[in-house]
Amino acid sequence: MTSGAFTQPSCKVVVLISGNGSNLQALIDYPQTHYVISQVISNRSDAYGLQRAELAGISTAVLDHKRFATRESFDEALIRLIDARQPDLVVLAGFMRILSSGFVQHYAGRLLNIHPSLLPLYKGTNTHQRVLDAGDRVHGVSVHFVTEELDGGPVVAQAIIPVFEGDSKETLAQRVATQEHRLYPEVVSWFAAGRLRMFDNGTACLDQLILPAQGVQFNAEQR
Ligand code: GAR
Repeated sequence: MTSGAFTQPSCKVVVLISGNGSNLQALIDYPQTHYVISQVISNRSDAYGLQRAELAGISTAVLDHKRFATRESFDEALIRLIDARQPDLVVLAGFMRILSSGFVQHYAGRLLNIHPSLLPLYKGTNTHQRVLDAGDRVHGVSVHFVTEELDGGPVVAQAIIPVFEGDSKETLAQRVATQEHRLYPEVVSWFAAGRLRMFDNGTACLDQLILPAQGVQFNAEQR
């Protein structure tokens, strides 16, 4: 859709957070014209990311999972809240909830997540320490479409960082976060520009080319 000489963002995005919201901040700050964040929703009222959204003039909502007896009833309420905004894309940005299959199916093909490891390695939590414990020489971050398998949907892109002698989980977390903030807005822009899709068979496609299992790979040192 165009208005005068300017292109209006046509992809409406709802971002789900649980905490700090540094990835949300990166999505807010990224210079682009393809997407607009129409709402930020947190399951925790003390999430700092809510303040980031408010400072940017973005509508916020809190849906406290502790008020719901079951995962399914929380997810159903969350779907109602999200769908009131009619988003084209739902972006998980540090949303620390396991999602029900009903939720994942409802947003199939329009649900992205960022995870601090080179998937399929290190699904779940505590990824930086697990990389150190394993003695890995490389680490990184993945952006993937969400499917019913936890941290298991098709990978769209990864950024790889080296693991140095003397690295701690804190130094790794810092360098991974830097890459997250570069990678996530770029991938969301691909989707918003109509370049990125997930097919029903679970493959991801960028610019009409089927992506390999590791997605598009960025070497952090070359960026
Ligand atoms: C990020 O490191 C993100 O990759 C991770 O939570 C952090 C959120 O940081 N997500 C997961 O571990 C999901 N499995 P932020 O709140 O500062 O964006």
